[in-house]
Amino acid sequence: MCGIIGYSGHRPAVPLLVEGLHRLEYRGYDSSGVAFEQAGKLQVVKAAGKLSALESKLASNAFHLATAGIGHTRWATHGLPVERNAHPHLSQDGKLAIIHNGIIENFQEIKDELLAKGHTFLSDTDTEVLAHLIGEEREHSPNLREAFARALRRAHGAYAVVLLSPEEPGIIYAARMAAPLLMGVGVGECFVASDIPAFLPYTREVVFLEDGELARIEGSKWEVFSLADLSPVEKTVNHVPWDMQAAAKDGYKHFMLKEIMEQPRVVTDCLSGRLVGQGDSLRVQLGELDAFPVPSRLHIVACGTSYNAGLWGRELLENIGGIPTDLDIASEFRYRDPILRPDEAVMVISQSGETADTLAALRLAKEKGCKVIGLCNVVGSSIAREADVVVYTQAGPEISVASTKAMCSQMTLIALMAAYYGQRRTDAFDPSASVKMLNALAALPAQLAAVLPTMQERAAQLALRFASSRSFFYLGRGQCHALALEGALKLKELSYIHAEGYASGEMKHGPIALIDPQFPTLALALDDALFPKVKSNIQEVLARQGRVIALVQEKDGVAPELGVEEQWVLPEAHPVAASFLALPALQLFSYCVADYLGKDVDQPRNLAKSVTVE
Ligand code: AGP
Repeated sequence: MCGIIGYSGHRPAVPLLVEGLHRLEYRGYDSSGVAFEQAGKLQVVKAAGKLSALESKLASNAFHLATAGIGHTRWATHGLPVERNAHPHLSQDGKLAIIHNGIIENFQEIKDELLAKGHTFLSDTDTEVLAHLIGEEREHSPNLREAFARALRRAHGAYAVVLLSPEEPGIIYAARMAAPLLMGVGVGECFVASDIPAFLPYTREVVFLEDGELARIEGSKWEVFSLADLSPVEKTVNHVPWDMQAAAKDGYKHFMLKEIMEQPRVVTDCLSGRLVGQGDSLRVQLGELDAFPVPSRLHIVACGTSYNAGLWGRELLENIGGIPTDLDIASEFRYRDPILRPDEAVMVISQSGETADTLAALRLAKEKGCKVIGLCNVVGSSIAREADVVVYTQAGPEISVASTKAMCSQMTLIALMAAYYGQRRTDAFDPSASVKMLNALAALPAQLAAVLPTMQERAAQLALRFASSRSFFYLGRGQCHALALEGALKLKELSYIHAEGYASGEMKHGPIALIDPQFPTLALALDDALFPKVKSNIQEVLARQGRVIALVQEKDGVAPELGVEEQWVLPEAHPVAASFLALPALQLFSYCVADYLGKDVDQPRNLAKSVTVE
């Protein structure tokens, strides 16, 4: 998963490329590079490590004349994160440069063929092989566009690739297959990038490329063709309302903190246009689903945090929506040949809409004749465009690699879907529980806004006391089991402390053997039907000298007394709303521990914002 950007227009290209790469750093940052044409020659500058290494190299380079160029930040899939593997990569004759996001699965076969023809390679990457293949095709093609297309038709796998050559000064070509790529159309200029923030200060007019499309960009003149036969393709220009403010840090130390604090607005935005009436007459409208038949069973498929959101929502979809629901991790679902019936539906949940395993699960479900609902955040993403129907979480750009507001928006939307399906039920159904939940959701933004500031303070206090732990248990039951999994995921991916999320009823089936004073437990003991059970599980941990942080709720103004080392008291709330209050507590605890330990909070090691490779 890498960040790519291309520019053609009237401004000096290289500063724009570097600025755009900074906004894409969350997509990949183990090396970076740019290519531009200068006095008829192809110039390539690249560096291993953070983008600042590239910038210091560029500082000594006179490139102010170039008004077209390509830039790349890398997250290694083939080859070590060292300079020779950084993009851009050149053809054998050095006459063209490409940058690439994705994996060319048959690159070794092509490389062997080219080696037999005398090609020599400087890197271990599949991308360099593709550059050589385009150069090879160029010798048998009438023009660069044809050569580009012919090479790509031979490449199997995922690619978003951008090409530049002095043969056609000021022009860049771009093409995509199963990896994100979009164009930003400005005045007298055009960008191509893997993600909208790369060019947001310059334009919000966006053209989303589809798989199997190839674009030719020359200033504000752009054309899109079908890769198959280079026939012209009509495209629409979409106005994206996100402004730079939405993609900037807003004065917070990290994107992650900003995005945690944004959650009241995220709930508001996710609800907007979807609740009608008020009080006992409050109802949901989800027009996107109206023409979609109510499934006899719903299979939720996702990865990581999105999976945890689905697990959290299953209970609501069943109990309120009346829909039998099961879950699968996408990377398992796609290889287990699941039994799916035409009257069932698969719901894939993905913030980025580009997660390879989730996209593969979508395609498998469709192959099996099952309808697919996409629950996504990124407009026009691959999953959004390939699902039979897409429902957007409307959470705005999530820049931090650790997913926070995305889960909040996914939970909100799943709760709405549960109420929506409840409204469409034909069996005897008491709407009161659903209406109560909807009213709780409507009141949630204000409730969240009220608790978040003091929540950060409490999280920081606890972080100081527990940051030296070598391992952590997160325990919960019912919907709190899903929150426990998410809390553990946050702690491990941000602070690199080992953490396990567990259904607390499972502790006695083995894990309790791990409990000792160096292996603390964060128990979610919210005021729900399962509180008494969780309370006894906490006693089991305490009896073995385990240190416990209990996340509890006031009831009638009084917090329960569980005899634990630390109680983190949340305000009274509807059981569904309580999860939305507990979620930021878990996020902020992990954030404070990671920040206290000096970790790279927005770009944790080894992680990428969306995993577009399997
Ligand atoms: C969560 O903090 C991680 N960044 C990761 O688990 C993420 O949720 C997962 O990769 C799924 O991403 P998606 O929602 O974009 O598909």
